[in-house]
Amino acid sequence: MMKRIGMLTSGGDCQALNAAMRGVAKTLYNSGEAVEIYGFLDGYQGLIHGKFRLLTYDDFSGILTKGGTFLGSSRTPFKTIQVIESDGIDKVAAMKQTYYKLQLDCLVILGGNGTHKTANLLRQEGLNIITLPKTIDNDLWGTDMTFGFQSAVNVATEAIDCIHTTAASHGRVFIVEVMGHKVGWLTLNAGMAGGADIILIPEIPYDIDKVAKKIRERHEKGSRFTILAVAEGAISKEDAKLSKKEYKKKLANYKYPSVSYEIAEQLAKKCGFDVRVTVPGHTQRGGSPCPYDRVFASRLGSKAGQLILDGEFGYMVGYRKREMVKVPLEEVAGKLKMVDPESSIVKEAKLLGISFGD
Ligand code: F6P
Repeated sequence: MMKRIGMLTSGGDCQALNAAMRGVAKTLYNSGEAVEIYGFLDGYQGLIHGKFRLLTYDDFSGILTKGGTFLGSSRTPFKTIQVIESDGIDKVAAMKQTYYKLQLDCLVILGGNGTHKTANLLRQEGLNIITLPKTIDNDLWGTDMTFGFQSAVNVATEAIDCIHTTAASHGRVFIVEVMGHKVGWLTLNAGMAGGADIILIPEIPYDIDKVAKKIRERHEKGSRFTILAVAEGAISKEDAKLSKKEYKKKLANYKYPSVSYEIAEQLAKKCGFDVRVTVPGHTQRGGSPCPYDRVFASRLGSKAGQLILDGEFGYMVGYRKREMVKVPLEEVAGKLKMVDPESSIVKEAKLLGISFGD
């Protein structure tokens, strides 16, 4: 009997989305079963508004190495999913209608945290769902790693490497601001890979005086420059004490483009050094997936294909202890995987002399 599968990519893109979809498609097409794959355009928007395309084998050819997503993506925040807005559309009902109209057997959803909340809601509404863990932030619960992460580590590391040489020439203090939303995986890994002297991540609130002290000590010992890898979500000890409401208020009146500029200003005052900020920004999500991600996303995709063929739904394909595993969606949705300040990687980084400003 014909199997009809829907596929969509939602939220911020990352490298290896195409590789993951190709992994699913190849596994399904190669199974010998009759399969139709429908691609929804621009994430949940395609499902809501019935914007889709019947895909063919050729759509999945030549895309292993291509960044971005050939289906397009968009952000449809979970908090708005059950809200009927000015267009009068009941989004959940519309998504279900599209699914049933196409007589889908399963919907494959590639996304990060927000995407998983909606995916779980659709599962609760009775749809057959399989998800794949996408994000450069590596913050999805239930999987040791997400695809996109290793590629982003490469880009961010390269940025730090480039800054290293110019910082050394000029004897400057440089901050490289790394993405990661509310978590520090990307900053921690790129920072260590790029030989940063100071790494500031949201999970370990910093004391600006300790950061300044580390820079002064380095310079007293003869180092001409200092490199800081600062997560976009880095937070000071004082700010970490604020309530959510108070912190939001502070950000609403914030005069800096991002936290790195505030840190730079404070450090320049405290140490008297020339402090520069570099923000690689969305380059971290762009370009080709690294070889690790190509293999990893292909494996995740293949496992998703197997689950579909076995009729097993309601899972995210995750990676634990070097194996592809199925993780119930209700366990994943709404939870963040953060860096544990007591984890061995943080302890080892500290032994290497890296300061976390704590
Ligand atoms: O979740 C991926 C991510 O790149 C985060 O690291 C970052 O905070 C956010 O998306 C940026 O979002 P946008 O692309 O909407 O600016």
